[in-house]
Amino acid sequence: MEVEDCILSRRSVRTYQDKAIQEEDIQKILKAGAMAPSAKGIHPARYIVITNKEKIKELSGKVKEKLKQGGGKYAERAEKEEDIIFYRAPLLILLVGDREKWTKIDCALAAENMMLQARALGLGSCYIGLMNKIGGDRETLSALGMEEEQELYCPLVFGYPAQWPHPKTREANVQKRIE
Ligand SMILES: Cc1cc2nc3c(=O)[nH]c(=O)nc-3n(C[C@H](O)[C@H](O)[C@H](O)COP(=O)(O)O)c2cc1C
Repeated sequence: MEVEDCILSRRSVRTYQDKAIQEEDIQKILKAGAMAPSAKGIHPARYIVITNKEKIKELSGKVKEKLKQGGGKYAERAEKEEDIIFYRAPLLILLVGDREKWTKIDCALAAENMMLQARALGLGSCYIGLMNKIGGDRETLSALGMEEEQELYCPLVFGYPAQWPHPKTREANVQKRIE
């Protein structure tokens, strides 16, 4: 698949088949993250790879509990049995890293590379910002292998879409052109 096709057809996927991703494809997704540009070439992103369904379900439950405490529209949705957090995706990758100045940006660049690589492999993906609701739950994060001096930056899910969202086109809001 051409890069342009990946970019134009990537969408956030929120419904996944109950089908594991082959290890070879997981490795390609991780490699895409590692190949992203990074300030000063430090490459601070660290990857926590979770394919254990029970663990993903448990984390989903913890995020939902936080949402319920917060009230509002998410609290209502969190009452439902369905996995409104990770969409029952078979793979959750957490991009974590230190608290240095550029780490958040480096992780975000790696994340987009990974989502585009996933698209090229016929896999869907979604950035799960809602997981940051448990960003302060150090006990849960440390049980996942996160270290004290690290932050959770980009939680991403991957899997075979039960349904591909329709491609959507958007245009850049060019503010000014100087020629
Ligand atoms: C920082 C960030 C956080 C996001 N958090 C969530 C999330 O928690 N749950 C979700 O379903 N989608 C999440 N998304 C996906 C966006 O909703 C999605 O990218 C946006 O609606 C545009 O749609 P598209 O990705 O299909 O082009 C997040 C995206 C970004 C970049």
